[in-house]
Amino acid sequence: MSVLDAIGDTPLIRLTRVTAGLTAEVHLKAEFLNPGGSVKDRAALAMVRAAEEAGELRPGGVIVEGTSGNTGVGLAMIAAQRGYRALVVVPDKSSEEKIKTLRAYGAEVVITVGGVTREDPRHVSQVAARLAAETPGGWLAGQYDNPANPGAHAATTGPEIWAQTGGRITHFVAGIGTGGTISGAGAYLRETGAVTIVGADPESSVYGGGDGSPYYVESIGHYVHPDTVEDVWPQAYHPKAVDRVERVTDRESIEMTRRLAREEGILAGASTGTAVVAALRVARRLGPESVVVVLAPDSGRAYLSKYFDDDWLRRAGFPAPPAPGPLVGDGPVTVPLVLPAGSPVRELTAVAGPAAVALLVLPRRGADDLAPAPGDVVGLVAAADVTHADPGAPLRDFAQPLSPVGIGEPAAEALSRTSGTATRLAVLTDGRITGLITRTALETE
Ligand SMILES: Cc1ncc(COP(=O)(O)O)c(C=O)c1O
Repeated sequence: MSVLDAIGDTPLIRLTRVTAGLTAEVHLKAEFLNPGGSVKDRAALAMVRAAEEAGELRPGGVIVEGTSGNTGVGLAMIAAQRGYRALVVVPDKSSEEKIKTLRAYGAEVVITVGGVTREDPRHVSQVAARLAAETPGGWLAGQYDNPANPGAHAATTGPEIWAQTGGRITHFVAGIGTGGTISGAGAYLRETGAVTIVGADPESSVYGGGDGSPYYVESIGHYVHPDTVEDVWPQAYHPKAVDRVERVTDRESIEMTRRLAREEGILAGASTGTAVVAALRVARRLGPESVVVVLAPDSGRAYLSKYFDDDWLRRAGFPAPPAPGPLVGDGPVTVPLVLPAGSPVRELTAVAGPAAVALLVLPRRGADDLAPAPGDVVGLVAAADVTHADPGAPLRDFAQPLSPVGIGEPAAEALSRTSGTATRLAVLTDGRITGLITRTALETE
């Protein structure tokens, strides 16, 4: 048996505590038990096999992919076992742990800038495509559009779940990243047993109808850069294979991820939290004859310094055990004015008044009614700082960099963590900017 034979056949674990009060059965498909640590081992193996069979990947070849995530790890593991080189392109915001995991498998990691539009030649997928074309023997896995990705789940994940529930499954719930899992397993389960397929999506992701603004749960949903010309969805996602999509807030996802560890003994990543929140919503409307299966893509080990870290939670304004005060939220937090970054100076000085401070955002089409996400904010500007500026100049020319602090973070930590030149700090609640506070106010708290 090789390590690749250990991919798949993961157990189904029944949830017993977070399901209190529900009569439907809820089972979790434990994909974090795959050898590379995630559900993505399945797609990676299927894509490599299909490429070998098609003659696109030959002995001595180079596997190329653009992802900081689990697919890169799966491909790196397979490359090591099969004797290929692996070249993985990751955005510069990727965690050190993820980059080190790829290197541990012997993959070569190429770092490019994150947070740019798909059209930008520096975008991860563009760099990966270029490297695959330029490298002799190079083959681009292309998980977003590769039919072998959903194919892996139609051939393995779906049939396993059907067999493990003895055909009793009534509802299947999974997050949507590339869409491979839900489209492949979903199509199989629907055709085999008229199973209802439910997607679990971060609130602001566009799959479930959100505005595309940033969110905190990694690897699922579809973020859209505000400057994107044309939003393209992955071909691995077949929206018709999904009956409905449940939208889940970051706060709900993170809270559930932590509960799973403490109440069920299941240390999973936050995309599992999102899927379980959706699964419990589904199960609430069902009776004892129903069997809900929810897919858990990866382990919580990769996120110990994020969702499981109380200081990280407080810095982002998510609920955490209380810290010793005084806290940022104890001070005089004001509600910010929100203006498009291209607005003229006069919008702030003449219209809003001399004491106003504005958050400058990159506007989005069909924006939700959510508070601005830090990633959408160019900076902030005070009317007092632009009184002598050209009234027609765009406000973004005067933007001060944003310094976000958490509403439940101790004031002293917020001050020491941010630059002394930041006179106004942006206050985060549940990861979004809900207020502003001056440095002086925090110093005198
Ligand atoms: C942690 C995690 N959750 C969910 C997903 C989504 O799976 P899929 O791409 O099959 O939609 C991924 C995929 O990268 C993942 O890494």
